[in-house]
Amino acid sequence: MKEGTERKLIIDGKRLDGRGFEELRPIKIEIGVLKRADGSCYLEVGDNKVIAAVYGPREMHPRHAQDAKMAVIKYRYNMAPFSVDDRKRPGPDRRSVEISKVSREAFDPVIMKEYYPKMAIEVYVEMLQSDAGTRTAGINAASVALADAGIPMTDLVSSIAVGKIDGEVVLDLTGVEDNNGEADMPIAMIARTNTITALQMDGHLTKEEFKRGLKLAMGACHQIYELQRAALIERYSKSEGREEKKRD
Ligand code: CDP
Repeated sequence: MKEGTERKLIIDGKRLDGRGFEELRPIKIEIGVLKRADGSCYLEVGDNKVIAAVYGPREMHPRHAQDAKMAVIKYRYNMAPFSVDDRKRPGPDRRSVEISKVSREAFDPVIMKEYYPKMAIEVYVEMLQSDAGTRTAGINAASVALADAGIPMTDLVSSIAVGKIDGEVVLDLTGVEDNNGEADMPIAMIARTNTITALQMDGHLTKEEFKRGLKLAMGACHQIYELQRAALIERYSKSEGREEKKRD
């Protein structure tokens, strides 16, 4: 996020990609895309492309990091070197460590960790193509992959960012909007109960803008929740869903 607007992002009341202020980018969800994972999901939000893979519950290694009372959730967000305009140096950096931590905490209230003492539940989120909103796309994919793995959860988590461009509060920023806009605020929530499980803010919003943005993001999370739910129902209403997995 850079200070101020370097280029015009709203022309004749429309954003550069033609969207209205309160419009999401197109979302596509595919479940069970990886054979070796216990649960997996491929998800697109506009030009973001992400794969989430879930393994476990399985024995936690190293053993000294085990928790005798509950499972340990490991969450690794990773951006592929080819996923951005300038090649990203491979491996973890400050940004990916922060995103992994915040994303893991977004799932803390829903995963029933106490069912699996001494075990690990591992979530890998790989960004294949990035265009802003990758942490939120990753959380949406991870949520579906966790459900696909059969990890007991009280609910799904849904996630989206709102921000401010050319002085307007808008939903789901693209890369060019994020780079030239005034604020970016990703949130994650349990849509069914309206419980926020993560909220970050980059840039500045007034109190009124914050309230409007939060309302907008919460409404969008309800839409995303319905898409996640529909994708899971479609996958498991076909009787082959689970059977296929057992045969592999
Ligand atoms: O992706 P998200 O909005 O969650 O996080 P961000 O740190 O606000 O990054 C915004 C966007 O900047 C990413 O989605 C990428 O498109 C881009 N980016 C990049 O090009 N190179 C990086 N090393 C990090 C981010």
